[in-house]
Amino acid sequence: MSLSFDRSAALVAENAKHIAGGINSNFRIGMAGGPLVFQRGEGAYLIDVDGNRLIDYYCGMGAMILGHSPKTVQQAVKDQVEKGILYAAQSEIEFEAAKILCERIPSAQRLRFGSSGSEVAQAAFRLARAATRKRIILKFEGHYHGWFDNILWSTAPAQNAAGPEEAPVLVPGTVGQDPVDAAGLDVIGWNDLSRLEARLAKGDIAGVIMEPAMCNQGAITPAAGFLEGAAAACRKHGAILIFDEVITGFRLGRSGAQARFGVTPDLSLFAKAVANGFPVAALVGRADLLDLFVTGGVLHGGTFNAQPVTMAAMVATQKALTPEGYESASKRGVRLKEGIREILKAAGLKAQVTGFELMFHVGFGLEAPARNYRDLLKSDKAQYVKFAHALLKRGVRVLERGAWFVSFEHDDAVIDTTLEAVHGAAKDIA
Ligand SMILES: Cc1ncc(COP(=O)(O)O)c(C=O)c1O
Repeated sequence: MSLSFDRSAALVAENAKHIAGGINSNFRIGMAGGPLVFQRGEGAYLIDVDGNRLIDYYCGMGAMILGHSPKTVQQAVKDQVEKGILYAAQSEIEFEAAKILCERIPSAQRLRFGSSGSEVAQAAFRLARAATRKRIILKFEGHYHGWFDNILWSTAPAQNAAGPEEAPVLVPGTVGQDPVDAAGLDVIGWNDLSRLEARLAKGDIAGVIMEPAMCNQGAITPAAGFLEGAAAACRKHGAILIFDEVITGFRLGRSGAQARFGVTPDLSLFAKAVANGFPVAALVGRADLLDLFVTGGVLHGGTFNAQPVTMAAMVATQKALTPEGYESASKRGVRLKEGIREILKAAGLKAQVTGFELMFHVGFGLEAPARNYRDLLKSDKAQYVKFAHALLKRGVRVLERGAWFVSFEHDDAVIDTTLEAVHGAAKDIA
C-alpha cells in the first residue's frame, strides 16, 4: 500500500493565497506527508480529501481521547447550540463542569476556565507572582507551556545554543520575541532535584512550572522522588509549584498525573483532552491562590471563558471518561506500545519506546530511556521522520516528533492493522 496526498498538497498551496502558508499553526508545517486536509473524523480514523482513511495517532495533538466524533459529546454540543452560544455571563453548564473537575482533580479546590493551555499558563504566572511578590518563573529545558513571548524559551534549543547541561541558557523559541521577556524567567534541566533545590535556594523564584511527566517532547517519567522533592523545595523556599497537565491531564489517568504520582501541586493547567477537542482550558488549584482573582486585585478575563457550548462538550467528555473506558483502552495502548518495541527490535532498529498507556514516545537511536531534554537530543530524528512517512504511506498517521496518542476508539482491530503497518515501515527503513 502506498497512499498519495496530492489533493491535500494542491489545496494547501492554493489556499496559501488566503491563509499564511495555507495553515493556521506553525506546528502543522513539518508534518508527515506535508500538511493534510481532512473532511471528517470517525473513531480512530481521519478521512482526507484524497479519500485516504488514516488511523490517527495525532488525536488532535492529544486532545481527542474519546476518538473522533464521539456521539454523546456531539449531542451535548448540538443541544447547547439550540440554547444559545455565548451569554457573557454564567451558565448552569459551567457550574456543572467546574464541579466535576473539582471533584476529580486532587489539587482543584477552585478553578477558572479559559480557552487554551497557553492562555491559562499566563494566568498561573500572574497568580504566582501576585502571591509571592517575586518575579522569576522557573521552567525546565524542553518543556513547552504555550507560544507566548514570556515562556516560549528553551522549548527545543539546539545543542550548540543551549549552553552547558549544568547551566543551560535561555534560548528564544521564535524570531520576533522581545528579549525583555526573558527577564522574568530562568531555565534548568528537568528531573534533577539537587539542581532545582539549589536554584530555589536563591530565594527569587515566584513559580516553578513543569509537566509532571515530560510529554510534549518524549514521554518521560519523573525520577523517583523528583516530584515530591520539588513540592517540598517549593514549599520551603516560598515558590508556587505549577503542574502543566495540558497533555498529561486525562491521558495519565482521569484525575491527572498528580493523582497517578501522588503529588499535589499548588496550581495546575488542563486543556486538550479536558473537552475532547473543544477549546477549553482550566487553571485549577489552591483556593487561596485562585481567590486572588476575587480579593487580591489580580485580573483574569476572556470573552470566550466558559463558553457554554465548550462547557457542554466538557461535561459530556468527562462523563464518558469512565474507569472502565480507561482500563480497556489502556490494555490496547500497552499492547500497541509493546508490539512496536518488539517489531523495531526484530528489524534491528535501535529505539526506546517509553511512556504511558495512552501516550508514549518512540525515540530512534537512543541507548537508554531519556531522562531529560539533553538525552532526547541524542535521538535520530531524521530516521524517525522517515519511519513516520513510511507509516503514513501505509495509512497510519503519527507525529514526526515520536509521540503516539491513543484514544478509547483504537480497538483491537485498529491496533492489529497499525502493528502490520509498523512491521512494513520498519522493514522499509531498516
Ligand atoms: C504541555 C503543554 N502545555 C501547554 C500547551 C499549550 O496549549 P494550547 O496549544 O492549548 O495553547 C501545550 C500545547 O501543545 C502543551 O503540550
